[in-house]
Amino acid sequence: MAQFTVHARSGDYPVVVEAGGLSRLGRFVRSLGPRGRAVVVSDANVAALHGPLALRSLRSAGFSVRLVTVPPGERSKSRRQLSALWDHFAASGLERGDAVVALGGGVVGDLAGLAAATYLRGVPLVMVPTSLVAQVDSSIGGKVGINLAAGKNLVGAFAPPRGVLTDPRLLATLPARQLRSGLAEVVKTGMAVDARLFEFVERAALRLRDGDRASLARAVWLAARAKGWVVSHDEHEGGLRSALNFGHTLGHALEAASGYRGLLHGEAVVVGMRAGARLSVAEVGLPERDRARLEAVLDRLELPQRMPPTPLARLLRGMASDKKRRGGVVLWVLTPRVGSASLPRPVDGRRLRAVLLELGARVVR
Ligand SMILES: NC(=O)c1ccc[n+]([C@@H]2O[C@H](COP(=O)([O-])OP(=O)(O)OC[C@H]3O[C@@H](n4cnc5c(N)ncnc54)[C@H](O)[C@@H]3O)[C@@H](O)[C@H]2O)c1
Ligand SMILES: [Zn+2]
Repeated sequence: MAQFTVHARSGDYPVVVEAGGLSRLGRFVRSLGPRGRAVVVSDANVAALHGPLALRSLRSAGFSVRLVTVPPGERSKSRRQLSALWDHFAASGLERGDAVVALGGGVVGDLAGLAAATYLRGVPLVMVPTSLVAQVDSSIGGKVGINLAAGKNLVGAFAPPRGVLTDPRLLATLPARQLRSGLAEVVKTGMAVDARLFEFVERAALRLRDGDRASLARAVWLAARAKGWVVSHDEHEGGLRSALNFGHTLGHALEAASGYRGLLHGEAVVVGMRAGARLSVAEVGLPERDRARLEAVLDRLELPQRMPPTPLARLLRGMASDKKRRGGVVLWVLTPRVGSASLPRPVDGRRLRAVLLELGARVVR
């Protein structure tokens, strides 16, 4: 077992990374303070695979337990599912001394996190991330939220959990495509904030791609700790934390352009990182060799080399409505070298179009 602490204004919290740790969930939640009730929020896939062990562990630690599931997928990050959770909490008689346990991927964490942060103005939340994206990214840092028709994550809050229990063994049941998509976020964290993580992924790429248990556990530990370090120093994204948006300006626009049905989030971020690295060579002096290293790692992980044919104009419009713009100007996080990122900055428009066309955008007349 290994653990680190994340600093948050509302209170520090532990992130425990332990193979097989799910069987200790009940004791972990108790150690964080809650007693009495635990409402476990999950999605139907994860609940079927890992719900029974989670519930058993909570019961044997003395909790009275209720399981609530939402349909799997991004569409559950909705006001409809949010208000359904509030009603379930009320029907369970949930109190401030009880706990909400988010057992699932980033969708469950973001949704249950917002529900827990708002019910009774906040009940304790424990994250049990089960996807790779959730283990290395979304469970840490306290951002929770839902989507609107107008865009992703437009309603949300900063609401750090009481604790995070990460069991890398749960990744054994994750579909291969979801695993590779999560590896994209690991590469992102390496490229933008942690050169040693990047080098580890370079060395272990083929084993990671094939789901090797020990390599994955190592990657989860290194990437989660790197994210924990970043958000401990910049919880509310004044500067440093924005590095984690590397690849996301274009990634979010691509996801929106496909109506969240084409590329997975991590896959869209891959195209965004390829664009970001190509722009970085010209704009912030990323050595060509390092751009090639990044793209080679993504290739070895069998992540997309280009986007599906997408109208250029739609991408440009999508980027212009990103949450992270300033006065209407689209900002990019660029990487001057491996393990380091610029603050969000505008990029040359002609160069951007050229890079998007290289990566598969289409000019539609
Ligand atoms: N809050 C943040 O800081 C933050 C950071 C990154 C991403 N996110 C959000 O996270 C979401 C994406 O997360 P995700 O990729 O985990 O998506 P997800 O939660 O939809 O999970 C992906 C799929 O994997 C399944 N799954 C999860 N764990 C499994 C397991 N152990 N075994 C078998 N199947 C499993 C799920 O049922 C789902 O079908 C997006 O909404 C994104 O906005 C939030
Ligand atoms: Zn992401």
